[in-house]
Amino acid sequence: MDDIASYIEQNKERLLNELSQLLKIPSVSADSAFSQDVIDMSEAIKTALEEAGCDQVEICDTEGYPIVYGEKIVDPSLPTILVYGHYDVQPPDPLDLWNSPPFEPVIKETELHPKGAIFARGSSDDKGQMYMHVKALEFMVKTGQLPCNVKFMIEGEEEVGSNSLTTFVTENREKLANDIILISDTGMIAPDVPSITTGLRGLSYVEVEVTGPNRDLHSGLYGGAVANPINILTKMIASLHDDNNHITIPGFYDKVEELPQAERMEMAKAPFNLEEYKKALDIDAVYGEEGFTTNERNSIRPTLDVNGIWGGYIGEGAKTVIASKAYAKISMRLVPQQDWTEITELFSKHFKCIAPKGVQVKITPHHGGQAYVMPIDHIGYQAAAKAYETTFGTPPVPQRGGGSIPIVALFEKELESKTVLMGFGLDSDAIHSPNEHFGVWNYLKGIETIPYFYRYFTEMNR
Ligand code: BES
Ligand code: MN
Ligand code: MN
Repeated sequence: MDDIASYIEQNKERLLNELSQLLKIPSVSADSAFSQDVIDMSEAIKTALEEAGCDQVEICDTEGYPIVYGEKIVDPSLPTILVYGHYDVQPPDPLDLWNSPPFEPVIKETELHPKGAIFARGSSDDKGQMYMHVKALEFMVKTGQLPCNVKFMIEGEEEVGSNSLTTFVTENREKLANDIILISDTGMIAPDVPSITTGLRGLSYVEVEVTGPNRDLHSGLYGGAVANPINILTKMIASLHDDNNHITIPGFYDKVEELPQAERMEMAKAPFNLEEYKKALDIDAVYGEEGFTTNERNSIRPTLDVNGIWGGYIGEGAKTVIASKAYAKISMRLVPQQDWTEITELFSKHFKCIAPKGVQVKITPHHGGQAYVMPIDHIGYQAAAKAYETTFGTPPVPQRGGGSIPIVALFEKELESKTVLMGFGLDSDAIHSPNEHFGVWNYLKGIETIPYFYRYFTEMNR
């Protein structure tokens, strides 16, 4: 690629400033207090795509937040790359744990980012990573090096389940037709150990409500004589794992593939230092399913986690009370072949079944999606691997990721194309967490690597 590295060097300040401007918009999709900001953000993306050289950009209204679509078709006989990303971000809470305000981006050096990292909500997930693609396009268009057609589809509801996108994709198969989908919304192992995400876990997210008596009760007058919903809920949740940390829901593992020993050994070659892992999290031991390594537990194995639990009195001081209701939000990460709607059913059936007499259980499914796998012999993977090798000087390691981008499995089903996950973030970027950041080096390396993917993918398609 002629002079991408020098282009980045010359434009570095501008590339960082433009991203900073986008990070100032608090496009939190989960909280309706930010709805105008989310809409403003879609306008900003439209402008960015136009300025980068898309011929046609539209804001597609949906029942939820808009989807920004843009394209540049150079020649219909050439391959088409569809870039997906999201412009919405997670809520910044808890605010008091941020060292600088979440929507006032600042660049600071850290141990892992000697060239600086940009601190702001959404810097890594996904504004920074999505914007790398916009700037890579800008470079290719400006220098006459765009080798194929490109379509952009940037949504604003990823962090809340991509409901509108599901409909949009199903209704716009032709418009979205492509040869490969390209996403940067995952991570890599380390700056000197580039990796490509070859798998994403599926997800089933449910909320449970346990109701005991019809009103809050004095815990002395009634305590001991009626079911306490919080006691019951925590006992029910505790029973969902056995002593080996296997999940106890009947049928939960029925469709889980046991990976061949050879593949597990291949995975185990990825660099991993347990001591550093523990140190980074200030924990004295890791914890998880018996019989699997840490990297297996967080990628190829399904899980069940409580994400939030509440009920009763949590204000200052003490209040003696038996609450009428207790609640929890529970996520299950799923692996290939597990069907998320089936798992939601199994969970609901089991959870109702283990509830003792004296309480009522209500289960509300939130959202979910299927897991995804990218075979490493696919030309999309091959082209990406060659691109990393060119800019990092070392071939990438294939790595199954533990997170979920549910829409990727839907792309495969509806658009019949595979997705290449070229993530440039690090696990330590603190996505969804206070002090989220994205390495300046990672951001610029992404912009440098992406155009090579375009070139190699187009060449390999001939
Ligand atoms: N970008 C993440 C997913 C991710 C991060 C995958 C790092 C692999 C490595 C995405 O924005 C996300 O947060 N997804 C949600 C699911 C969604 C339905 C809310 C998740 O994984 O919790
Ligand atoms: Mn994301
Ligand atoms: Mn996210």
